[in-house]
Amino acid sequence: MIGLGTMGAGIVEVLAKAGHRVFGIDYDDRAVAGGRERLETSLDRAVQKGKLNPDERQAVVSRVSFGTDKAVLTGASVIIEAVSEKPELKQAVFAEIDAHAPADAILATNTSSLSITSIAAGTTRPDRVIGIHFFNPAPVQPLVEVIDTVLTDPAVIDRAMSFLQELGKRPIRCGDRAGFIVNSLLVGYLNAAVRTYADGRISREQLDAAMVEEAGYPMGPLALLDMIGIDVGHAVLVRMYDETKDRRHAPAPLLTQLLEAGLLGRKTGRGFYDYRSEESVAPVRTPQWASGEGIAEELVTDYLNDAVRMVETNYATPDDIDAGMSLGCRMPKPFEVLAARGPRAVLDRQRAIFERTAEPGDRPSALLEALADAAEPQAALELLRSR
Ligand SMILES: NC(=O)c1ccc[n+]([C@@H]2O[C@H](COP(=O)([O-])OP(=O)(O)OC[C@H]3O[C@@H](n4cnc5c(N)ncnc54)[C@H](O)[C@@H]3O)[C@@H](O)[C@H]2O)c1
Repeated sequence: MIGLGTMGAGIVEVLAKAGHRVFGIDYDDRAVAGGRERLETSLDRAVQKGKLNPDERQAVVSRVSFGTDKAVLTGASVIIEAVSEKPELKQAVFAEIDAHAPADAILATNTSSLSITSIAAGTTRPDRVIGIHFFNPAPVQPLVEVIDTVLTDPAVIDRAMSFLQELGKRPIRCGDRAGFIVNSLLVGYLNAAVRTYADGRISREQLDAAMVEEAGYPMGPLALLDMIGIDVGHAVLVRMYDETKDRRHAPAPLLTQLLEAGLLGRKTGRGFYDYRSEESVAPVRTPQWASGEGIAEELVTDYLNDAVRMVETNYATPDDIDAGMSLGCRMPKPFEVLAARGPRAVLDRQRAIFERTAEPGDRPSALLEALADAAEPQAALELLRSR
């Protein structure tokens, strides 16, 4: 494990708990000590909660060695990198991994937003480089995205999938697109929600309440963005827009304004909401004319259309998308929602949205149309979901 910050220390814990011998590497002694401390604090918490007994804790710790020397990589079968999210740093670390790792090792990056293809292409063995994207906190979150590139040897992906299953994780597969499955669907929806709010059709409280009460989401989109961090959401969108040129992914101007104003959400005390005072001024004036009716429905429909398009383009399976959104975001499973509403009803709504916005990204997915036009739409959808 290279990089022992929030994610790296958590992944070390996952690996060692599953019985693997682990080497944890960071760049200097202080950073290594920090990683060791993170691991021990997390294990102590597990013991306090009765999830681990003291002997097991000891056994986990004894399986982990720490250091700064990447020469230990000569003995590694799986190498996971989780250093800070900087392209030059990742390239440099992968050059070192490339110099030391055995020929048959899996080389993985935990990056959330960088191109895995370009990291792979910088090595002498791009066929062995993949993304293994854990979610925070790694010891408790079962979901892991496994990402291949146009250069990957499929056997490497198969090995990574079984390796993660043996760790007790729920790996889901996709290709190398910005945001992968979970962040691209989530952040795409969040951006649409911000635009709707900024249009002045609904108040922030109404919008957040509608997504919870009408759509069954665990949290409203604006409150969620405040929690994730406006800067973090904005950065994912910039990367997505850069790649897709889908205008829906261009950060909503209001999001950019909050970023420029330093209103980053909970961490700065203010974002869409003010967490410092009772009297919180909304960044958008209270709507005078609109009722906000149907907005939750619209946001959900667009999100379902995006999920179906992922399947249409062979990017991911319905089952993996459902697992990703439910485990990663505690959101309702898109393909379950689609089945409950029926492909025809969802298509009709999506057509209405497209007619109104004329936004190319809002065009109904061809697969959604095919499902709705099938002799038995529900059976066609079930067949798709079972594959
Ligand atoms: N934090 C999250 O929620 C999250 C979730 C999924 C993926 N990620 C991704 O995981 C990676 C790490 O994120 P994090 O939140 O753990 O960051 P972090 O800042 O907590 O940790 C980064 C670690 O990398 C170490 N490092 C820096 N240069 C190094 C080098 N040359 N060699 C070895 N170690 C070095 C740092 O000392 C630090 O311990 C990033 O790519 C990020 O995008 C983060």
